[in-house]
Amino acid sequence: MDDLNAALALSESAQWNQNANDWSMMLRLGQGWGIDATDDAGRVQLAASVVVLPYGEHFAWASMVLVLPQFRRRGYAQLLLRHALSNLAAQGRAAVLDATPAGHAVYVHEGFADTWGFARYRREAGSMLLERPVAPHTRPLREDDWLALDALDRNAFGASRLPLLRVLARRLPQAARVVEQGGRLRGYVLGRDGREARQIGPLLAEDTDLARALLHDALLPLSGEAVYADLLDQHLALLPWLQQLGFAFQRPFTRMVHGTDATPGNPATLVLAAGPELG
Ligand SMILES: CC(C)(COP(=O)(O)OP(=O)(O)OC[C@H]1O[C@@H](n2cnc3c(N)ncnc32)[C@H](O)[C@@H]1OP(=O)(O)O)[C@@H](O)C(=O)NCCC(=O)NCCS
Repeated sequence: MDDLNAALALSESAQWNQNANDWSMMLRLGQGWGIDATDDAGRVQLAASVVVLPYGEHFAWASMVLVLPQFRRRGYAQLLLRHALSNLAAQGRAAVLDATPAGHAVYVHEGFADTWGFARYRREAGSMLLERPVAPHTRPLREDDWLALDALDRNAFGASRLPLLRVLARRLPQAARVVEQGGRLRGYVLGRDGREARQIGPLLAEDTDLARALLHDALLPLSGEAVYADLLDQHLALLPWLQQLGFAFQRPFTRMVHGTDATPGNPATLVLAAGPELG
C-alpha cells in the first residue's frame, strides 16, 4: 500500500485522527495491504486497509482495519485480516490489536480473544489547565534518556518499540517529558500531531502522582488545543481529575490477542496507550 492520499481518505471516512505523518510512519515501521474496488460510478479506489507493525520478535500490532462505508459487509476486512495473520504466523508472531466496537465482531470471528480495555477521552480546544502541586518535578526528554526509557517501556509493553517512540518524540517534542526519582527514570510521556486533534500517549508511570504530573506538564504547551488521551481502564482512578481538565468520554476499545493467551508485557505501569493503531 503506497498511496498516502487514498489511505488518508480511508481513515477520514471513519473520522479517525490519523494524518499523513501517521500513515507514512506506520508504513515505514511496518507493512500495509489494501484492496482496490470499483464503485457504482466505475471509479477504482482504495476500499480497505490493514497495517501490521512488528514489535520485537514475538508479536506485531495489527491496525488500520478500515473499509469505506460503501464497500462494507463484502468480506474485505476479513480477507485482509486473514492475509495479515498468515503473514505474521509465517514469521512466528502473535497478533495484538485494539478493537473498536465495530471491529470487535470481525476479530472474534477470526479467533481473537479479549484481554483488558481502555477508553478514549477528548479535551476540546479552549479548555483550562488546572494548577498542580510543584512535586514531582518532570523535565523534557533528553537524548541520553533513551536507554532507560526503552528499558522501562519494554518491560511494560512486552517488546522494544524504540523506533516508534523516537519518531513520536520528534512529532511533538514540547510534550516529550520524563520523571526521575532516586536517580532512576520512573515515567515518561510522548505525544503526536493528528488530523483534527493532538494525542498524548504513550504515558508510563510507576504511580498515580507521577502519571498526573507527566500528563499535566505534557498538556501545558498545548493549552487551548484539542487533545485525545486513551486511558487504560486499570487507571480509572485518574478519571475524575481528567474530567476536571475537560476530558470527556468518546469511545471504548478492547485489547485483543491472537496466537497468544495474554497481552505481552506487564501493563501495570501503562497509563495512556499510544493509541489503538500503535499499541
Ligand atoms: C469494522 C469494519 C472494518 C468491518 O469491515 P467489513 O469489510 O464490513 O467486514 P467483513 O465484511 O469482512 O465482515 C466479516 C464478518 O465480521 C462480522 N461483522 C462485520 N461488520 C459487522 C457489524 N457491523 N456488525 C456485526 N458483525 C459484523 C460479520 O460476522 C461478518 O461476516 P458476515 O458479513 O458474513 O456476517 C468496517 O465496518 C469499518 O471500516 N468500520 C469503521 C472502522 C473500524 O471501526 N474499524 C475497526 C477498527 S478496530
